[in-house]
Amino acid sequence: MEISQINPFLPEPARIVRMYPLTQDVKFFQVRIAEMEKALSFKYRAGQFAMVSVLGAGEAPFSISSTPSRPGLLEFCIRKVGVVTEALFKLRENDLIGLRGPYGNGFPVAKIQGKDVLIVMGGLGAAPLRSVLLYCLDNRDRFRRVILLHGAKNPSEMIFREEFLALKEREDLECHLSVDRDDTGKWTENIGVVTTLFEKIKDIDPENTFSLVCGPPVMYKFVLKELVKLNIPKDQILMTLERRMKCGVGKCGHCAIDYIYTCLDGPVFTYWDVIHMRELI
Ligand SMILES: Cc1cc2nc3c(=O)[nH]c(=O)nc-3n(C[C@H](O)[C@H](O)[C@H](O)COP(=O)(O)OP(=O)(O)OC[C@H]3O[C@@H](n4cnc5c(N)ncnc54)[C@H](O)[C@@H]3O)c2cc1C
Ligand code: FES
Repeated sequence: MEISQINPFLPEPARIVRMYPLTQDVKFFQVRIAEMEKALSFKYRAGQFAMVSVLGAGEAPFSISSTPSRPGLLEFCIRKVGVVTEALFKLRENDLIGLRGPYGNGFPVAKIQGKDVLIVMGGLGAAPLRSVLLYCLDNRDRFRRVILLHGAKNPSEMIFREEFLALKEREDLECHLSVDRDDTGKWTENIGVVTTLFEKIKDIDPENTFSLVCGPPVMYKFVLKELVKLNIPKDQILMTLERRMKCGVGKCGHCAIDYIYTCLDGPVFTYWDVIHMRELI
């Protein structure tokens, strides 16, 4: 049973198994729900999020970065921006945090199966999309082409850089990485904004392609233009978007846009949704 079905506001104690920096202001957290049975039965979909809390500091929503195909451990990729994240950064391995969820709709993985998957991520957008990427790779026979386009400002700010560079070795993944500028002098991949990677992908079959996008707000306009140029139907372009959230379960109204609660109806939306509700981006 999901923790949220027992009491939606009750955080479950979870232990930090591993934590290390991914970039100067982003840390990777691998956590396990303290009670082993609950840890193993925690079910979620790629694209869902959890509310993570630190005693005395509060709680905030974070995308689950691990894949549901590897149960037991949950992974998060967290940027230090305020009260909760600062408290999280001060914790050590073995410390306890609170966790409730999973929340949100997540990606419609069943619909995507049997199709080509084009993942476009920028910056911290890697956090939710890594989950779906690893899911596709763990279930490789259920998907056709899997293409990853990942952009960062510079190599030292590329989240999961080593992991994605290693993925380039795989023959069943088309993995293209780019940075706006090279601050290391050692970057061997593409240089340019993430949209410059579109020229590297050939023979897209738009009717049978789902594109999954997440990145900083400025990225969407340009990436969406490229996806439309490729003729990918707007209901097959999926975006995971952030709003300020408090309860995560459709009770407080903090995340509402008109009649939509982004914590329940999102954070994954289609391009159609976004066209009809401009405030989403
Ligand atoms: C579905 C979802 C998934 C997310 N996934 C991730 C993730 O994977 N990794 C990640 O790092 N972050 C993620 N976030 C963002 C994260 O939840 C926020 O950055 C969160 O606010 C951090 O909490 P904090 O207490 O550290 O920061 P806060 O103290 O809340 O401050 C965060 C920023 O918001 C500003 N702010 C504070 N209050 C307000 C307000 N009322 N109105 C406007 N601005 C305000 C602050 O000045 C600061 O710049 C996600 C958010 C959502 C909704
Ligand atoms: S966060 Fe409370 S209703 Fe969505």
